[in-house]
Amino acid sequence: MHTGEQYHKFMLASERDHAVRDQFQKMALDLLAKGADILDFGAGTGIDAKAYSTHGHQTFVYEPSEAMRAYLGHHCRDEIVRKTVVAIDSPDDCKVQAVTANFAVLNHIENHAPLFEALYRVVDPGGFVLASMLNPYYLGDARYRWWRHNLLTLMRTGRYAIESESRIHRFAPRVVARAAAPYFKLERITPRGLGLATHLYMFLLFRRT
Ligand SMILES: C[S@@+](CC[C@H](N)C(=O)[O-])C[C@H]1O[C@@H](n2cnc3c(N)ncnc32)[C@H](O)[C@@H]1O
Repeated sequence: MHTGEQYHKFMLASERDHAVRDQFQKMALDLLAKGADILDFGAGTGIDAKAYSTHGHQTFVYEPSEAMRAYLGHHCRDEIVRKTVVAIDSPDDCKVQAVTANFAVLNHIENHAPLFEALYRVVDPGGFVLASMLNPYYLGDARYRWWRHNLLTLMRTGRYAIESESRIHRFAPRVVARAAAPYFKLERITPRGLGLATHLYMFLLFRRT
């Protein structure tokens, strides 16, 4: 298990994760209105929060892990003092244009319906939720037994979980879209089509109804 600091250093050292993070942050920042507030749900050590705050967005952070929160407090100490990054105990404690959940946060959650219902109260009308999730169709994982073993289940049900990965769930986009309705509509999946075969992460953009 990572401590916050180990996770942080690992993430910053990984070129592949860096490229994916840059792409995710760019998408979020392009969609955000100038000066709009944002909630980083499952904020980890605050890597994205610091970037959003640097771009002029007050950033609320919700993070359940104490180890992650502790390192976020260190990484974003100046922003926390200036209140451009604000730690909250529940997503309900803010009102924002957008919610981001980067690097598989939603893969930790078995049932997304209560989450989207809660985020409906948090996100302004017309606002969005942008999530980066593990892509269940990524062919790079086909070398693993668990991937091949769960393929039929994925096709049949659109989801599965692996015990050995602390029950990290894999979801087809349609399953998350169903859980999000009627509160949010799935507007965009990146990458699309065959691109899904070659990317470990997929970005799902949900628009608040
Ligand atoms: C791989 S880390 C990603 C952290 C951060 N978003 C980033 O981009 O580096 C997954 C995060 O999801 C958080 N998490 C796990 N279950 C969660 C839940 N039910 N609600 C919110 N966050 C959760 C973990 O504590 C962890 O910080």
